[in-house]
Amino acid sequence: MYQPQPGDPLAALDTPAMIVDVQLMEENIARLMARFQGTSVRVRPHLKTAKSPELAHRLLAAGASGCCVAKVSEAEVMAQAGVEDLLITSEIVGHPKVTRLVNLLQQHPHIKAVVDSQTGAQALNTALEEANLHLNVLIELNVGQNRCGVAPGEDTLALAQQMQSMSHLHLIGVQGYEGHLQHIHDPLERAQRCRQAMHLLTTTAAQLRTAGFPIEIVTTGGTGTAEICTQCEGVTEVQPGSFLFMDTDYRNALGPVYANALTILSTVISLPVPNRAIIDAGFKSLSTDSGMPEPQGLPGFHYQPAGDEHGILTWDNQTSTTQLTIGDRIALYPSHIDTTINLHDTYYAYRNGLLEAIWPVAARGKVQ
Ligand SMILES: Cc1ncc(COP(=O)(O)O)c(C=O)c1O
Repeated sequence: MYQPQPGDPLAALDTPAMIVDVQLMEENIARLMARFQGTSVRVRPHLKTAKSPELAHRLLAAGASGCCVAKVSEAEVMAQAGVEDLLITSEIVGHPKVTRLVNLLQQHPHIKAVVDSQTGAQALNTALEEANLHLNVLIELNVGQNRCGVAPGEDTLALAQQMQSMSHLHLIGVQGYEGHLQHIHDPLERAQRCRQAMHLLTTTAAQLRTAGFPIEIVTTGGTGTAEICTQCEGVTEVQPGSFLFMDTDYRNALGPVYANALTILSTVISLPVPNRAIIDAGFKSLSTDSGMPEPQGLPGFHYQPAGDEHGILTWDNQTSTTQLTIGDRIALYPSHIDTTINLHDTYYAYRNGLLEAIWPVAARGKVQ
């Protein structure tokens, strides 16, 4: 069986396969970091996108001041690989998960978590007390996404006061993620609504400080808003994730601020009728929750899934003169990067057409 080796050409690789253009990825990292240089805002990239310790270490080497993960199981993978300053950005609820977090904290005390209820906070505190451990926590605020989060202002203050009796939880910050604003196409509207969301977050942080709570971290932002958040007085760190590779959904919203640096490589396996090609990448290789993936370098060609293992390419002879033959390789840009990466075991990283590195998607499927 063919085992890919550094130096191999792309043509040698089997498909479907997830391909990184390392040069473009490095440029995305450099571009993001440059945007925050000279500001007091730290970058804590969200690893829910990349799910790879190798990439986490690259981000830290480039200047990130820690990382986010979405789940305890992702934190386990990253902590095991030496990424210690982790913020888990989803509420940790239920005995199995709380126990898992407490076990992780034994070896990795720098992990931080978010809470948005007295019930959730109390359960964490009880488990920590039994284990004689302490946890730094942030209250999550609802800044408009209407997902998790306490209402800004008085409700947040009330939760902070309830937590004062929880001796093993230490309130150090607030998180408010404005996920509903990331893909707004109009930059002025995105900026204006983001500033309103940041106002809710930063004024609540100030209110907590006035009440005596030592709020050090005010964390927020994604690829679509991080720069806007940085300009808002009181924000201390941002959490972008998708910028590393981008996807067509983000490109359509933001324009070419970051490059699309990841494709799924497929093969034409059948040409049943004119103007229809079948490729070996379906639902198991490409997510479609944010629209259809886009064939790279083939204007006028359209992809649609044709089941778990197959995809259909169609094209109009009037707009495209390219003729496909069986065995042709087709690269596709994912429409949603996070859900596509989570379908793959391995990144194949190429520079100038030659394989440079193979990175496991070590936190793939870590959704608990
Ligand atoms: C809490 C939180 N922070 C940050 C991000 C990163 O956003 P993006 O991948 O859009 O940069 C996400 C993405 O879903 C998120 O849920």
